[in-house]
Amino acid sequence: MTEKKYTLTDHQSGTELELPCYDPTLGPSVLDISSLYGKLGVFTHDPGFGATSCCESNITFIDGEKGVLVYRGYPIEHLAEQSSFIEVCYLLLNGELPNADQLAEFDESIRTHTMINESLLRFFNGFHHNAHPMAMVTGVVASMSAFYHDSTDIRNPAHRDVFAHRMIAKIPTIAAAAYKHSLGQPFIYPRNELSYCGNLLNMFFSVPSADYEVNPIAEEALDLLFILHADHEQNCSTSTVRMAGSSGTNPYSAIAAGISALWGPAHGGANEAVINMLEQIGDASQISKYIAKAKDKNDPFRLMGFGHRVYKNYDPRAKIIQAMCHKVLQNMGQENAVLLELAQELEQIALKDEYFVEKNLYPNVDFYSGIIYRALGIPTSMFTVMFAIARTVGWVAHWAEMVADPTSRIGRPRQLYNGPGLRDYTAIFDR
Ligand code: SDX
Repeated sequence: MTEKKYTLTDHQSGTELELPCYDPTLGPSVLDISSLYGKLGVFTHDPGFGATSCCESNITFIDGEKGVLVYRGYPIEHLAEQSSFIEVCYLLLNGELPNADQLAEFDESIRTHTMINESLLRFFNGFHHNAHPMAMVTGVVASMSAFYHDSTDIRNPAHRDVFAHRMIAKIPTIAAAAYKHSLGQPFIYPRNELSYCGNLLNMFFSVPSADYEVNPIAEEALDLLFILHADHEQNCSTSTVRMAGSSGTNPYSAIAAGISALWGPAHGGANEAVINMLEQIGDASQISKYIAKAKDKNDPFRLMGFGHRVYKNYDPRAKIIQAMCHKVLQNMGQENAVLLELAQELEQIALKDEYFVEKNLYPNVDFYSGIIYRALGIPTSMFTVMFAIARTVGWVAHWAEMVADPTSRIGRPRQLYNGPGLRDYTAIFDR
């Protein structure tokens, strides 16, 4: 990083403070304000961290103005077209694309770590059948810390690797168990001969009483969706994993914290909310009514799947998913073509409306993904779980990057306090 300098002046005292500014490989320079409080006795204030760099990272870069997303320097369009989710996992974790031997070894390691402890499987029987799958997945992932004491020395690189492989390999099995529990169907064990996505589909949809064959179009669509959802810089859930992990907690607990954050409708829960919204709109004749609701300050309704903290242009992932929608619907789930047409009509109308144009609100990754999940036969309540499966590798990569950084320390933001000034306690009969 080259260093530029900025000078901050306190006009009351005339004190001047020189602040170093670092230039990154890609994106905006960052101003190092860590000396600010010590030198000038003031904090910075940036609720929601819209203009705050919280760490140095080599994993993912986003250019919100241009709609650019790269994993370890590789454009998402290249990876979507030429790579596989397992290869992208290797890239995110290790920083480089694997050669054939490295990929085969990594793929074999993931395939042979997919089973979970039988006692962990029994946890699901403690949930009511109508428990939300995200609640089950969060609880069971957090409970993994009770089972894997042999790989939780987070300062040991070998333990970090074992954790990474275990977490990526087991999250589909946990997700499938949550789904089967909600159906009242028996759990389906993972199969080592199947691909990552083929195995997931088999655990979701096969039953002991009938043969099941993985649909290659469904397998390809899932693999693409997982590549697109794998990582996204310092988003809410990834920042949560970093914050939780910065205390030195068990890595499984840090991932569980990330799953909790992802569940919110403003974040990963939006894919479920988009389908619910499209069904609420019903048909194109109602679109203008809901666009008006989305623009009405007094109406809490928002166009789910639209807008983004970083992208002030089209989310590059949304474009790729929309194209995959057409391919999937041609081969399966034709009844969902109505939803796709409604979504596309909604997008066209919104993108011509000055409210959305002036606020730079475009479809994001969640706007079309639910239509594919729906066509694959995955219920709406499982959509955010699908997001969590894919994002697990991103959370693990950022956690490992932070823990391996010798300069990293516990996250502890400050605040702008506007509560009551100092006052003495008064006895109850004096109040
Ligand atoms: C994800 O960060 C990531 O990278 C996340 C993610 C990832 O891969 O990890 O990309 C995944 O979470 C995608 C986002 C999914 N969420 C949704 O689709 C929910 C709907 N979108 C919004 O709630 C909203 O756009 C956010 C939460 C995504 C972004 O919110 P910001 O950046 O805090 O923006 P804001 O709420 O301050 O909105 C700015 C303006 C406001 O109007 P004004 O107060 O300026 O008048 O735009 C309006 C908002 O009211 N606005 C919307 C809107 N989104 C923003 N108005 C109507 N519908 C919307 N969807």
